[in-house]
Amino acid sequence: MERLYCFLGFLLLAARLPLDTAKRFHDVLSNERTSDYMREHNQLAGWSSDENEWNEKLYPVWKKEDPRWKNSWKGGHVQAILTSDSPALVGSTITFVVDLVFPRCQKEDVSGNIVYEKNCRNDTGPSPDLYVYNWSEEGGWGNGPNEHHHHVFPDGRPFPHHPEWKRWNFVYVFHTLGQYLQKLGRGSARVSINTANVTLGPQLMEVIVYRRHRHVYIPVAKVKDVYVVTDHIPVFVTMHQKNDRNLSDETFLRDLPIMFSVLIHDPSHFLNESAIYYKWNFGDNTGLFVSNNPTLNHTYVLNGTFSLNLTVQAAVPGPCPSPSPKPPEPTSPLSTYLKSHRSNSPAPAGDNALELRATPDEACHINRYGYFKATITIVDGILEVSIIQMMDVLRPEPQPDRSLMDFVVTCQGIMPTEVCTIVSDPTCQITYHTVCDPVDVDTGDTCLLTVRRAFGGSGTYCMNLTLGDNTSLALTSTLVSVPTRDPASPSRMANGAMISVGCLAIFVTVITLLVYKKHKEYKLIENSTGIVVKGKGLNVFLNHAKAMFFPGNQEKDPLLKHQPATV
Ligand SMILES: *[C@@H]1O[C@H](CO)[C@@H](O)[C@H](O)[C@H]1NC(C)=O
Ligand SMILES: *[C@@H]1O[C@H](CO)[C@@H](O)[C@H](O)[C@H]1NC(C)=O
Ligand SMILES: *[C@@H]1O[C@H](CO)[C@@H](O)[C@H](O)[C@H]1NC(C)=O
Ligand SMILES: *[C@@H]1O[C@H](CO)[C@@H](O)[C@H](O)[C@H]1NC(C)=O
Ligand SMILES: *[C@@H]1O[C@H](CO)[C@@H](O)[C@H](O)[C@H]1NC(C)=O
Ligand SMILES: *[C@@H]1O[C@H](CO)[C@@H](O)[C@H](O)[C@H]1NC(C)=O
Ligand SMILES: *[C@@H]1O[C@H](CO)[C@@H](O)[C@H](O)[C@H]1NC(C)=O
Ligand SMILES: *[C@@H]1O[C@H](CO)[C@@H](O)[C@H](O)[C@H]1NC(C)=O
Ligand SMILES: *[C@@H]1O[C@H](CO)[C@@H](O)[C@H](O)[C@H]1NC(C)=O
Ligand SMILES: *[C@@H]1O[C@H](CO)[C@@H](O)[C@H](O)[C@H]1NC(C)=O
Repeated sequence: MERLYCFLGFLLLAARLPLDTAKRFHDVLSNERTSDYMREHNQLAGWSSDENEWNEKLYPVWKKEDPRWKNSWKGGHVQAILTSDSPALVGSTITFVVDLVFPRCQKEDVSGNIVYEKNCRNDTGPSPDLYVYNWSEEGGWGNGPNEHHHHVFPDGRPFPHHPEWKRWNFVYVFHTLGQYLQKLGRGSARVSINTANVTLGPQLMEVIVYRRHRHVYIPVAKVKDVYVVTDHIPVFVTMHQKNDRNLSDETFLRDLPIMFSVLIHDPSHFLNESAIYYKWNFGDNTGLFVSNNPTLNHTYVLNGTFSLNLTVQAAVPGPCPSPSPKPPEPTSPLSTYLKSHRSNSPAPAGDNALELRATPDEACHINRYGYFKATITIVDGILEVSIIQMMDVLRPEPQPDRSLMDFVVTCQGIMPTEVCTIVSDPTCQITYHTVCDPVDVDTGDTCLLTVRRAFGGSGTYCMNLTLGDNTSLALTSTLVSVPTRDPASPSRMANGAMISVGCLAIFVTVITLLVYKKHKEYKLIENSTGIVVKGKGLNVFLNHAKAMFFPGNQEKDPLLKHQPATV
């Protein structure tokens, strides 16, 4: 039996021998096995089967270790970079770009010649030559009678008659799925493929690049890359939440909306005409949200870990089902054929309600789906921060060049573990100094802090104040006006100003709490000056609280958010 196999194998080899005398495209370009099905069906419009013969005389083929590679380009090696906009939804167009990267100090000029860059020096100084390759000399693009047979691609087809073709000095051969495409170009080439007939899954694209040299072509670079054709809509979701400290750790805060934004990767605009539906399940028993808007806000009201999932649905032009029953597409069990009528009513939430028939004379549509899943953790965090009061700090010996200010800060949510201030110019752009202090955890369960900061001199400052813990970071921004000190009046009354009407509600709450807690002392945040004053800030605060509630007092309008507070 074994002997018989041997004999058959030999026969097969013998039968192949005549074929092997001439190189074929797949010999030059691929180590990959390609199914004959792909070759036979010629499925890429404009591409040819890689069973075609390769003109090795005109286009030499070198192995990787061939010493001739060393001289294939003056002054180094040319690198080809192949990129694509993969993954591609089946039916859409995928685009490949090859960019040639020339050795250091070389570039392509406007007319397509390769020149030395003018101001690019190295240890040996600038090159005396202007041109690396002057194609008009190099190629001998003459119009003589025996020139024409050189102006052909590896398969013998003549170059296209484009007015610019003489300036295109590279030949690119793209190869994938058992087919090839030849192109003439400059230092960059681009190819697009309609993926309607491409087998799903990862595929290999290979490119070989030749340059023209007299009457032959010299290989200069070879490159390959994997691309993916999928029947799932490529979907990306970004999640954003105010006060969330780290947007990439999938931990978010309770009671603040999370903004979910869906990005569909569709570089060829294949889904332009499709109605797209987004079906959300947030995993917190709030049910299914169906929307045609790619962004959606959702607020979790419980802490814990939740599995959310999203299904994106789009009806796209697709093949009509054949009249005889055919097994469903193996890789897309969820794809359902749709009758092509356009309906204005929203798509049903369930998939089973879709029509399964298509009338022969109508274009057919197929439903494509994309999926996204995530597990997110919801924790308690700092939800809101407000500066409710700023006040000048009285000192026995005022220093003219240094003012101290106290800021009374309230927050909602849990207690912060640190407080930071960034003092900057009035436009909030140029940072002067940043100070961070830990917050004493014993402050109790009411969030009320006094933050003391030193200012270098009189003027207007922007101050960003943040309260933070492990997972949250709440910011408020205010303008601070530090007045010129008059050393002659040391007994000046401390003065403060309400800065945000938004604080009013919190303010009332805080006062209630304060009254309830009866002069409980609040620890001050230790600041850069190292002074801790107990109780004083609270008293001033209470004075102002009274002022707020007993009209007739000259208390300022609380709507002073962006006006400098008077001190
Ligand atoms: C797909 O293949 C069929 C035949 O196999 C052909 O008629 C059709 O033009 C191809 N479509 C594309 C986009 O290449
Ligand atoms: C400097 O340029 C010359 C030719 O222009 C090249 O041979 C040499 O390798 C370059 N040296 C460095 C350090 O890049
Ligand atoms: C290089 O090509 C240009 C035209 O592109 C030509 O004018 C010039 O004479 C050629 N040779 C050299 C050495 O510059
Ligand atoms: C944010 O979370 C990611 C994922 O847990 C982590 O790798 C990264 O270091 C975090 N960034 C910061 C600034 O903590
Ligand atoms: C799809 O829409 C974009 C912009 O919305 C447009 O630039 C593009 O030309 C459209 N493509 C098609 C195929 O309609
Ligand atoms: C989406 O999540 C819900 C609840 O967590 C679950 O019942 C459902 O099976 C999930 N769907 C998918 C497609 O994973
Ligand atoms: C989601 O919330 C943000 C603010 O957090 C808001 O700007 C946006 O308009 C909201 N989006 C929707 C769809 O409600
Ligand atoms: C979850 O929330 C409850 C009530 O708000 C709280 O008591 C508990 O500590 C929280 N757990 C976590 C892990 O944040
Ligand atoms: C202060 O916060 C604002 C946002 O409120 C921001 O635009 C600005 O860049 C911040 N300034 C500094 C110095 O961090
Ligand atoms: C959060 O902060 C506490 C102290 O406040 C610390 O013990 C804990 O390890 C931190 N957790 C993370 C994930 O950083």
